[in-house]
Amino acid sequence: MLRTHHCGALNEKHSNEEVTLSGWVQKVRNKGFIVWVDIRDRYGITQLVFDEERSPEAVFKKSLELGREDVIQIKGKVIERESKNPNMSTGGIEILVAELRVLNAAKTPPFTIENETDGGDELRMQYRYLDLRRAPVRENLIFRHKVTMAVRNFLSQADFIDVETPYLIKSTPEGARDFVVPSRMNSGQFYALPQSPQTFKQLLMIAGFDKYFQIVKCFRDEDLRADRQPEFTQIDCEMTFVEQEDVLVQFEAMIQHLLKEIKGVELGAFPRMTFAEAMQQYGNDKPDIRFGMTFGELNALAQNKGFNVFDSQELVVGIAVPGGASMSRKEIDAWIEWVKRPQIGAKGLVWVKCNEDGSYKSTVDKFFGGDDLTQWAEATGAQAGDLIFVMAGAAHATRTQLSALRMEIAEQMGLRKAHEFAALWVTDFPLLEWDEDSQRYHAMHHPFTAPKKEDLGLLDSDPAKAKANAYDLVLNGNEIGGGSIRIHDTSLQEKMFDLLGFSEEEAKEQFGFLMDAFQYGAPPHGGIALGLDRLVAILGGSETIRDFIAFPKNNSGRDVMIDAPAALTSEQLEELYLKTLTKNPS
Ligand code: AMO
Repeated sequence: MLRTHHCGALNEKHSNEEVTLSGWVQKVRNKGFIVWVDIRDRYGITQLVFDEERSPEAVFKKSLELGREDVIQIKGKVIERESKNPNMSTGGIEILVAELRVLNAAKTPPFTIENETDGGDELRMQYRYLDLRRAPVRENLIFRHKVTMAVRNFLSQADFIDVETPYLIKSTPEGARDFVVPSRMNSGQFYALPQSPQTFKQLLMIAGFDKYFQIVKCFRDEDLRADRQPEFTQIDCEMTFVEQEDVLVQFEAMIQHLLKEIKGVELGAFPRMTFAEAMQQYGNDKPDIRFGMTFGELNALAQNKGFNVFDSQELVVGIAVPGGASMSRKEIDAWIEWVKRPQIGAKGLVWVKCNEDGSYKSTVDKFFGGDDLTQWAEATGAQAGDLIFVMAGAAHATRTQLSALRMEIAEQMGLRKAHEFAALWVTDFPLLEWDEDSQRYHAMHHPFTAPKKEDLGLLDSDPAKAKANAYDLVLNGNEIGGGSIRIHDTSLQEKMFDLLGFSEEEAKEQFGFLMDAFQYGAPPHGGIALGLDRLVAILGGSETIRDFIAFPKNNSGRDVMIDAPAALTSEQLEELYLKTLTKNPS
């Protein structure tokens, strides 16, 4: 037997027992006549003691050679420690070692395997298997496992069937570029890796599965951020004979269940907000509603008072920063510089201090008197002691910029508390968005999303105004899920492809299988996909999904551990017909 217990199991109750432990050497403390070694495995750390007097001589000598991360096996007796460590479950005991076997000696690791490590990001990514030995990283993955199991159990109990769908498919448009895989057996042809199993889950509904789910890898070739990876995992779900309300109720219940089970948090009914309301009140379709600072529109109050900067603009809008009146000029200037950075792109900020005595101090005192500013304060919800920041410009861009400012201020003021949770549904998204570059409409969600029934007529008259039967689930200011009720008849789907600029042939070529399927008894259906990585990260108190993925890619989409992507040999290229393709692009 390589072990009788794991390294987190033993305590005073086991005193005087003979045990066998196996694990990694975490730490060696050599006092000359006595050597303490911490042995570690997934479950914990146990202190070993090698003593010149009490241990066999050969064993004691061998202990002097132990190094960090050696894999060892020991036999010995559990004894009570003289100075106990109440912070460890094993802190009351140590093992007086009688036998020591080095199962595999280790090179010195390139960084310390401790909760706080000295390794930089790239180095830890390169030796990810060593980083995964560190407790905080391991705990994140164990946490992910718990969330995943809770999701599986919940959905299975709610009659959802887990069905696997293929990875080698044809492009499914979800708005990103595809990763493609060349086919050796079909010269010059490529599979696409799924951006989501969207069309397959719809086919499963047509096949009569009624409720489907899959915890599934999706692949999107897009720019990476803290909450985006090129391969990520969705909790992908679809339901038959449902309307929007049925889907929202089902998945609200799932998120409430997860919060309760995983975090012990009771979430009440989720607020619902239309896309238009979210944009107007928060400048963002995934608002963080854990704190206020909602937008106050000031056009009616601030325009036509002789202040040119406002008069010529489409939108004048402000937020109240709680307690901000005490900011120094330097601090305010820093915020002005912050919004002027190219990443935000605002021209500047007008500010108004709402003093405790009811007076105001602002950059625009010349144009606006106390009465004006009182109205501004009302519109933005500013109280005495607050600071109002105002931006003006083109409506959409200004809202986006002010939203970025709101989030950054909240972050810096500690208002975005990692272990406080607020979810909401955002509904009534526009069906289409106009893309200037390609001069055509794109589906805001995806091309299979049904328009709102009452907006069907707009598809002919004013498609840009049509709303979609689509919804997003937002948690703590992050989009953790999106879904819709689907189109399930051929003629509407054809019309949609037409609006999106597909010719009849192109639509047939790409989605003929789905259009065909619609003709064989397609039921009304709809669904949602949740981003598992994001959900887990947020529940775990972080917004960086990489910390909750075992082997993530870096910001350039590289796996620096296995060094991928990599070049292929010329034989491989030849076999895949890629050599001729590059030489002869026609
Ligand atoms: P959508 O594109 O909104 O919908 O994706 C669903 C959810 O997946 C997560 N997500 C990501 N997570 C990490 N890295 C990425 N690159 C990434 N991209 C998306 C987000 C998002 O809300 N087929 C539809 C779902 C449906 O209509 O049922 C879809 O994929 O949390």
